[in-house]
Amino acid sequence: MSTSVQDMTERVAPLIAKEEKRFRAERRRSDQMWNEAKEFISKGVPSSFQDAPPQPIFIQRGQGSRVWDVDGNEYVDFHNGFGVMVVGHAHPLIVEAISERARLGTHFAQPGEDVVVVARELSRRFKQPQWRFTNSGTESTLDAVRLARGFTGRDRIVKIEATYHGHHDALMVSVEPKPDLMGPADSPASVPYYEGIPKAISDLTLVVAFNDADQLERLFARHPAEIAAVIVEPVMMNLGSVMPDDGYLAKVKDIAHKHGALLIFDEVKTGCTIAPGGATERLGVTPDLIALAKAIGGGVPCGAVGGRADVMAMIDEDRVAQFGTFNGNPLTMAASRTTLTRILTPAAYAHLDALGEVLAGGLRDVIAEHDLPFHVMSLGARGGITYRKERVRNYRDYLTIDKSWAYVSWLYQCNRGVLMAPFAEENWTLSVQHSEEDVQRYVDNFAELARDLTR
Ligand SMILES: Cc1ncc(COP(=O)(O)O)c(C=O)c1O
Repeated sequence: MSTSVQDMTERVAPLIAKEEKRFRAERRRSDQMWNEAKEFISKGVPSSFQDAPPQPIFIQRGQGSRVWDVDGNEYVDFHNGFGVMVVGHAHPLIVEAISERARLGTHFAQPGEDVVVVARELSRRFKQPQWRFTNSGTESTLDAVRLARGFTGRDRIVKIEATYHGHHDALMVSVEPKPDLMGPADSPASVPYYEGIPKAISDLTLVVAFNDADQLERLFARHPAEIAAVIVEPVMMNLGSVMPDDGYLAKVKDIAHKHGALLIFDEVKTGCTIAPGGATERLGVTPDLIALAKAIGGGVPCGAVGGRADVMAMIDEDRVAQFGTFNGNPLTMAASRTTLTRILTPAAYAHLDALGEVLAGGLRDVIAEHDLPFHVMSLGARGGITYRKERVRNYRDYLTIDKSWAYVSWLYQCNRGVLMAPFAEENWTLSVQHSEEDVQRYVDNFAELARDLTR
């Protein structure tokens, strides 16, 4: 007989307490370093996303599919630096490319040969003729928004409720809005994400639910000739993995175009991970502008914005500014060229797809065996467990999930040699250096949790 959800829920809190205790006992050096860091660094971490409970893990090194923390714990890495390290750690070709570049000089703020190779390859993969480089996903979405505003001469932007597009003001809106502030489901409010976002800016950012084209249509009707662009993460990857309904992305593009606005895809997470040409290729919709970062740099800070020739011509004509001291940095470009032309080959994508299926299949078997109210998503290098039985279509669905499931699962993995990105919303990232044995460890750990929850 299967265990009831209520029984399982009652078992979670004691399991969390036990696993947190073990977690802390095995990471004393990390804790020490964290306390030292707090003296000079806010929260003791370089980015607030690294401050996850029970405490940050300080990492010493990585090799292939593995990383080691400062306490000597070894992990198979499924965090992979928030979805960056699809090449795996210290890939010999990346080491060679970066070392060679370091010998030749790492920064000139003048173009070099690699920028052409990388832009040509991005163009081929993402079907966008023109590109510029940036240094992060934040900069890429910032530039995409500015290009759309310049091109259309309009100020308003539409974003999807609960997407994260980086930390610039225009898109730090309704990223994780609190239920008492988020407004009605059919007309979500624009809620600034933390303080310091001017109201005048957040008011320009309108918010709609994912997978609701009619709501978007109504929003355009309320703001005729005011909206520059709709920015969409084509598969939402910060609520687990939320797939677009069939035909939804094409409808969004049609609605935007009908009203004289552009469609921007934020493929910072999906780009080069769920297919060679990201969601654009896998889901068959080509946007007007695209923001990339993360995996395209092979582990070096990177970013790119690409788009339609007439939109990108705003840069050629000096009508929209796109600048950056480190744009097209030689170290980044060397790593990116190697990543895109020598590592993320068709054979690499076949490996990632196959491995993803082994992992997802193993997890689905555990879920079925224990009749757990969860489901699994796998798309190329990316995937994850969603802790509810039914598909999630938008943020409001996601809010029905008890986050303690994801937390206990994260602790179980971490304490048994699997590093996952912290926070309930995150997915796994596989690398070309992961093996079936690596993904089996993930499945085995999850099976142990399932047994402890249902015993
Ligand atoms: C979808 C998406 N867009 C943009 C960003 C911002 O990228 P970065 O952290 O490189 O600025 C992120 C970061 O996680 C992201 O997930």
